[in-house]
Amino acid sequence: MSTGHPSTGHSGTGNPGADNGPATDSPTGGASPASPQTLWKRKHLLGLSELSADEIRFVLDTAATFKEVSMRSVKKVPALRGRVVVNAFFEDSTRTRTSFSLAAQRLSADVIDFSEKGSSVSKGETLVDTARTIEAMGIDILVVRHAAAGAADLLSRNLKCSIINAGDGAHEHPTQGLLDLYTIRERFGKIEGLKVAIVGDIANSRVARSNIWGLTKLGAEVILVGPPTLCPKGFAKFGCRVTHDLDSVIGEIDVMYMLRVQNERMKSAQFPTVREFTKLFGLTWDRFQRCKKGVFVMHPGPMNRGVEIQSDIADGESSGILKQVENGLAVRMAALYLVSQAGN
Ligand code: CP
Repeated sequence: MSTGHPSTGHSGTGNPGADNGPATDSPTGGASPASPQTLWKRKHLLGLSELSADEIRFVLDTAATFKEVSMRSVKKVPALRGRVVVNAFFEDSTRTRTSFSLAAQRLSADVIDFSEKGSSVSKGETLVDTARTIEAMGIDILVVRHAAAGAADLLSRNLKCSIINAGDGAHEHPTQGLLDLYTIRERFGKIEGLKVAIVGDIANSRVARSNIWGLTKLGAEVILVGPPTLCPKGFAKFGCRVTHDLDSVIGEIDVMYMLRVQNERMKSAQFPTVREFTKLFGLTWDRFQRCKKGVFVMHPGPMNRGVEIQSDIADGESSGILKQVENGLAVRMAALYLVSQAGN
């Protein structure tokens, strides 16, 4: 990641769907911007590091109009009719894959779900050859998740279709970052000025990286919390506070964003025991009682219940975890729609 980020000032893009004509005449059913090209010119969505604050707000505003579609009795608009979206997942997923698949269907695209398991990857076919083979069938958007950081960027330079990054190694997970921003903005009516603690396994987390970019660009104060092995002081260069003492900041935080301990990405044990991790960095009931009144609790899922978050907090009134999933659908509809328009 580069270290700089643009201004955090608001430009007031407003509701981009507000000027649309009658719902029945619009390809988006009146649910999205008439001219997305005005603020969005990107064919690919690779990461939040490359987006400006205004571009991020534009995606969130577009998602807000698509969320309205999901509340209709007929939850479908013709925006991507005749287009083909392929979800190519080389790593496991529940939320992201299902959400992209449903989002593409709600936009009336033809949708194919491709998994590495059972594919010719087992015979040694490379990522680029696999993607080019799928592209040769005539696709418009490739949504890709891969264990290697930079995989989506590599494909954007080797294919003609639009690429959306659905998570590349520990690098970025831009639609997760966007749905988190959307959910925070929906809850508080703003992002600027909020104190957001991202807690746990920062070093291995693409979710943390995308959130750091997005939150700092939109003017939140980001506090990274975890053991030194998982939360190195070097992250301060991205404009965050870094602490290894959760209890020293717990009373000032508006959003507690708990990360999953990602055993699959750890090269060796990065903390002594799970029990010690929970004691020092878990959102336990005792710690929750010391949080600021009105604290909002988030987690990208899947959760290790009882490790980074206690079950009754995850399922309680302060939790936005299922709201994050719900908003992910609208954000992914917006992402698919915007890259498809820019790719024309
Ligand atoms: N948050 C997230 O990316 O979840 P999945 O791995 O289930 O897609």
